[in-house]
Amino acid sequence: MECSLAVQSFSQEKLFTSVIKDLVKQGWSVQQNSLPEKLLQDLVDEINYFDNKQLLLPAAIGRRHQKQFDQSIRSDRTLWLDGRSKTQLVLLDFLEAFRLNLNEQLWLGLDEVECHYAIYDKGSFYKRHLDAFNGHETRVVSVVFYLNKDWQEVDGGSLKLYSAKDIQAVSTVLPERGTCVCFMSSEIPHEVLPSFRSRMSIAGWFRRQSTIEKRFGL
Ligand code: OGA
Ligand code: MN
Repeated sequence: MECSLAVQSFSQEKLFTSVIKDLVKQGWSVQQNSLPEKLLQDLVDEINYFDNKQLLLPAAIGRRHQKQFDQSIRSDRTLWLDGRSKTQLVLLDFLEAFRLNLNEQLWLGLDEVECHYAIYDKGSFYKRHLDAFNGHETRVVSVVFYLNKDWQEVDGGSLKLYSAKDIQAVSTVLPERGTCVCFMSSEIPHEVLPSFRSRMSIAGWFRRQSTIEKRFGL
């Protein structure tokens, strides 16, 4: 239980408040020191462990029957978190607290959170995209946590965030350990520039279940 106490004593309320303020104002938020160092290190150890076991696989685009593997759009490797370890449970607890906060403050009616580990090997990227399309998808808020220490601009791999119609990026984020990016999934196009170093992150989505999923208990 040592880990979850560490997360609780961390000023998560402050973080949630700043993120929510930014989401209301501009639809996106970038925060540093978003997770305790111990949890970040445990997540790095775990992603490396799973990578050694070759469990991170080329990522898909689209959901379920629309799944496609198109490496000209994205070339990262991913593994979904399923709560199999204490480290994952600590992060999932944190995200659950975040979900409840978003619902209380913004009335988003979010039902669940899903997230995956991602590794962008040298040369990998994710071209400009939206995480959700209004009316078709159930992803409402996206969140990304970065795990690499000492990331430099020359390492590439920055995340560029755009506002709906802009060609100019509204923010360019270095994927430095502890930085967290959060944005409205259907409003903020974004891209991951080619990375020149192995880039490790966790990407997550707060979702509303579709009516069909609710009706059939999927
Ligand atoms: C994604 C994504 C951004 C990042 O996985 O959909 O856009 O910075 N990730 O890793
Ligand atoms: Mn995305």
